[in-house]
Amino acid sequence: MGEYQVEEVVEFLAGAGRVAVLTGAGISAESGVPTFRGKDGLWKQHKAETLATPEAFERDPKLVWEWYDWRRGLIAPVEPNAGHRVIAGWERLFGEMAVITQNVDGLHAKAGSQNVVELHGNIWKLRCTREGTVEEVRDNPLPHIPPVCPNCGSFLRPHIVWFGESLDPVVLDRATDLSESCQVMFVIGTSAVVHPAASLPYAAARAGAKIIEVNLEPTSLTPHANFFFPGKAGEILPVLDRQLREWTKP
Ligand code: OAD
Repeated sequence: MGEYQVEEVVEFLAGAGRVAVLTGAGISAESGVPTFRGKDGLWKQHKAETLATPEAFERDPKLVWEWYDWRRGLIAPVEPNAGHRVIAGWERLFGEMAVITQNVDGLHAKAGSQNVVELHGNIWKLRCTREGTVEEVRDNPLPHIPPVCPNCGSFLRPHIVWFGESLDPVVLDRATDLSESCQVMFVIGTSAVVHPAASLPYAAARAGAKIIEVNLEPTSLTPHANFFFPGKAGEILPVLDRQLREWTKP
């Protein structure tokens, strides 16, 4: 991380009132949550279409639920890392600060972030396939698989956006508004290939925001970013945060 780059970013941030942070699986990797596309990524071990599609659920709801129950078990004991904590602390530093996340693990909220837009849903929430009602269920493991709606007896499904499904338009509108109104957008730990999430930094840039990317490796977004910090989010964000707090100290 070049010192010059840190200074430039910090100077810029210190003057920004509206900041948005777009995160992907990489922000949770240092907490021990597997990513999707890395060498040990979930999509390397499992075919997405056998598990994360409406067709898969129709074909074999038990198999799909076994996989989600396994992932819930992985995530349940996990704690947010330094990256999540820095982002949560920024809510007190900037006038307007929002997290737009593709993650379903709930770790931003666990770290204390209050303004979180969950683009792809949340693994702790279950939705009735008939009534559409959403409920948070923390039981781990789930006592019965597939779980059924206590009200109507239909299957409950994970409240997660599957391949082939659209994002909730209200959620997407909010994410788009935040992207188009921020002055700085951080893009952290996402391979930036899944749309519409991957389009948000471009919407932000078109509206005049500076784009700051943090990732282990360059992505297709990197040539379009104003700054790129290669490395671990849990190491880079605390450095930026320290410098920023030095800079803004009264
Ligand atoms: P990916 O697994 O595609 O990408 C994770 C990114 O994080 C990669 O670019 C890594 O280089 C980077 N990375 C890994 N560890 C990191 C670290 N410690 N610090 C910084 N960067 C790190 O995950 P997403 O981009 O989030 O959708 O994937 C997007 C969507 O695809 C997911 O939300 C999921 C998946 O299908 C749904 O489940 C709906």
